[in-house]
Amino acid sequence: MTEHHQMSPLEAIQAFLPCRTPDRWIENALENPTLMLIDHANCEKKAANTALSLINRYTDNFELLNKMSRLAREEMRHFEQVIGIMKRRNIAYKHVTASRYATGLRDLARNSDPEKLVDVLLIGAFIEARSCERFARLAPHLDAELEKFYNSLLKSESRHYQDYLKLAKTVASSTDEVEKRIALIAQRERELIESPDTEFRFHSGPVG
Ligand SMILES: [Fe+2]
Ligand SMILES: [Fe+2]
Repeated sequence: MTEHHQMSPLEAIQAFLPCRTPDRWIENALENPTLMLIDHANCEKKAANTALSLINRYTDNFELLNKMSRLAREEMRHFEQVIGIMKRRNIAYKHVTASRYATGLRDLARNSDPEKLVDVLLIGAFIEARSCERFARLAPHLDAELEKFYNSLLKSESRHYQDYLKLAKTVASSTDEVEKRIALIAQRERELIESPDTEFRFHSGPVG
C-alpha cells in the first residue's frame, strides 16, 4: 500500500465511528428546526455537566481536572451561543426529555474504577465524535448563520473527542483494553444511531 494521506480531524472521526448518521435523521432534523436547537442547547449543558462530574469524582488526576475544566467552560460557551441564536429566533426554551442515546451508552460502563473511568471517558469520546459528525452532516443544509456556527462547533467537538480518547488511554491498563472497550461501545452506538427511534433528538435514531 502506498503511504496514505494525513486524515483530517473529521475523517478521523468518521473512521472512528461505526456508521454514518442515517439520511432519515437529517430529514428529521430539518423538519424540526426548533426542537433541534432546544435539544442542542441541552446537549451542551449536559456535556458541561459530564465534565464537572468527572472533576468532582477524580480529584487525583491533574490532567483530567485541567482538560475537563477547559471542556466544561467551552461547552458552557457553546450553550450561550445556542441560547443566543434561540433568543434571536424567538424560540422558547421549553422542557425536552432526554433521548435514549447517552443512557444507552452509559449502561455499558463497568462498575468500579479504574475500569469505570476508562469506559466513561470512551463513551465521552463517542458522544463528542457523533456530535461532530452530525454538525458536519447538517451544516450544508442550514441557513448561513447556523451553517457557520455548526462548522465552528465541529472543530471543538473533534478536539473534545481527542481529549477524551487520550485521557482514556492514560487511565487504561493496556491498548488491548482500550480497543476491546471501543469495539463494544461502537456496537451499541451503531444500534442507537441506526435503529428506529420514537422521538427526534440531537442524538436520536431516525424517526418514522
Ligand atoms: Fe459543545
Ligand atoms: Fe463537546
